[in-house]
Amino acid sequence: MKTGHILGFKCVRCGEETPSAKNYVCPACSGNLDVVYDYKAVKKALTRKSLESNPDKSVWRYKDILPIAQYKGVPIVHIGGTPLYKAERLGSDMGLKNLYLKDDGRNPSASFKDRAGSVAVAKALELGEKTITGASTGNAASSMACLSAGLDLKTIIFVPEKAPVAKIAQLLVFGAVVIAVKGTYDQAFDLCLQASAEFGWYNRNTGHNPFTREGKKTCSFELVEQLGWNCPDKVFVSVGDGNIISGIWKGFKDFYALGLIDRLPRLVGVQAAGSDAIKRAFESDGKIRPVSGETIADSISVLLPRDGDAAVKALKESKGFAVSVTDDEILAAMRDTARRESVFGEPAGVASVAGLRKAAAQGMVKSGEKVVALITGNGLKDVASAMKAVGKPHLIEPEVGELKRLVEREKINSGGIACRS
Ligand SMILES: Cc1ncc(COP(=O)(O)O)c(C=O)c1O
Ligand SMILES: [Zn+2]
Repeated sequence: MKTGHILGFKCVRCGEETPSAKNYVCPACSGNLDVVYDYKAVKKALTRKSLESNPDKSVWRYKDILPIAQYKGVPIVHIGGTPLYKAERLGSDMGLKNLYLKDDGRNPSASFKDRAGSVAVAKALELGEKTITGASTGNAASSMACLSAGLDLKTIIFVPEKAPVAKIAQLLVFGAVVIAVKGTYDQAFDLCLQASAEFGWYNRNTGHNPFTREGKKTCSFELVEQLGWNCPDKVFVSVGDGNIISGIWKGFKDFYALGLIDRLPRLVGVQAAGSDAIKRAFESDGKIRPVSGETIADSISVLLPRDGDAAVKALKESKGFAVSVTDDEILAAMRDTARRESVFGEPAGVASVAGLRKAAAQGMVKSGEKVVALITGNGLKDVASAMKAVGKPHLIEPEVGELKRLVEREKINSGGIACRS
């Protein structure tokens, strides 16, 4: 049987190597595992030429460096291949000449998490699992529900009861069993681990399952291809559990090991001010300790990051840094990204842009650098937060006289503000 070019697994925390991920985590220290590839073998199958002649624009164009040995079915919708926009206006507002936005809100369930879900679902099918479970702030779950819909895979989701209603609606629409937990995401995560052990359900929890990172790395492969086989200088990533940023790093390292790029970018992790355990660890002794803050950006509202070790490692190895942003800065980024570049992101989706603006203002990004900000979730996921960023529409009777008075009063014909606050 073809092994998917996997040599084994290595613990992110203690470095122990293990041949199997049967129990998900490191047998020695319970740290998260990282998939180790046989790059020599991959190199024979995956080349610049093979990619350039591959018409598949989804994550599956990178099958040769994904951890699936036997594809016994994959989600039927198109995952990945999201647009990369040159953001001229937003860039010039920040004094940047080469800013790009990667809009991963364009995935099937409208978030970056579909990349992780793609591989997790394919792995569950490969293993012959009948039930997949996961805890989530909302997006990983709605992704899993979306991607396993129509497949022979029952999906059981644990979410904090306060998850945005649109995300809960997605879960229910796609037919998952939804268990809303009266508590935090962290509590939902722990309960899900117990449920998985108790009932034998396949567990997709972020970071805990080593394959989520593998799906996420496909974003970096796309970036390199979309930038004409070039590597960006810096990539700004919104960070909660730290799995996306560690996946982004893995992707660049894979392409580097395969000789497809000749340098690596610096990664910048952006966390919400109250939810910044990874930033704190990175800036001190590297050890993850829980925090206790709240943020409007529910997707990155994490007290104890579940892939924190790997995230800190990614920041260190890439010689990057971390930034924290306030809710007001996130809301401003939501407005500006939409109004300047037509991209509508949820709060966590644009925290990256808020962090970039802060870093640029502090001189931590040079004007000519090639910078990418990942937009990790669509704004329609959390309309209540969007409304906080933009005020209300003008309300009038259906009468032209009143309309004229409004146009006059608000100076709508001469660039007046298009909403009341
Ligand atoms: C929209 C969005 N952005 C960013 C993140 C952060 O990803 P991670 O928890 O892997 O750091 C998430 C995670 O749920 C998310 O949904
Ligand atoms: Zn270990």
